Amino acid sequence: TGGNALDRALDLITEIPDFPEPGVLFRDLTPLFGDPSGFAQVIDALGEAVGDGVERLAAVEARGFVLAAALGYARGLGVALVRKPGKLPNVAGRVDYDLEYGTATLELPIGSVRPGERVAVVDDVLATGGTVAATTELLRTAGAEVTGVAVVLELTGLAGRARLGAVPVHALRSV
Ligand code: PRP
Repeated sequence: TGGNALDRALDLITEIPDFPEPGVLFRDLTPLFGDPSGFAQVIDALGEAVGDGVERLAAVEARGFVLAAALGYARGLGVALVRKPGKLPNVAGRVDYDLEYGTATLELPIGSVRPGERVAVVDDVLATGGTVAATTELLRTAGAEVTGVAVVLELTGLAGRARLGAVPVHALRSV
């Protein structure tokens, strides 16, 4: 259905039924990450979505790291690396949250952001919004100002955007 290069890139995302459990339609970005021109299109579009005036990016492992690393390099921005539990020796904050399937915990390393710093969150998929909401909470508790959220794919049926309150959310594609 792609009418332009970004659409063609986003068309590389595939749907896997019943993963990781029955009834869940998994969105697989693997072909997009593996396509050099498609990946570049998506990074450039995320950069436009993030906009100007941002001082740092934040991302959640694992797929969020890939996107934020590329965008951070392109824009000259450092990345706050939000981790799944048990990885960090120096935890500044910890948040438990609900996923579409199961529960999870995220941790922010000490020294990830400066007080008052303007930080944009980057991730591959916005589903229930639990991951980004938890990330936003961690960043704010550490003193950062969350300026916006940029994701590749938004699953509108799970209403993640509503969970994020007033934070602007930019999705390259909403389905
Ligand atoms: C996926 C995805 C988002 C999150 C979205 O991560 O990368 O971070 O789920 O879901 P939510 O909006 O309902 O919170 P996953 O936990 O599968 O981790 P991964 O990137 O390591 O595969």
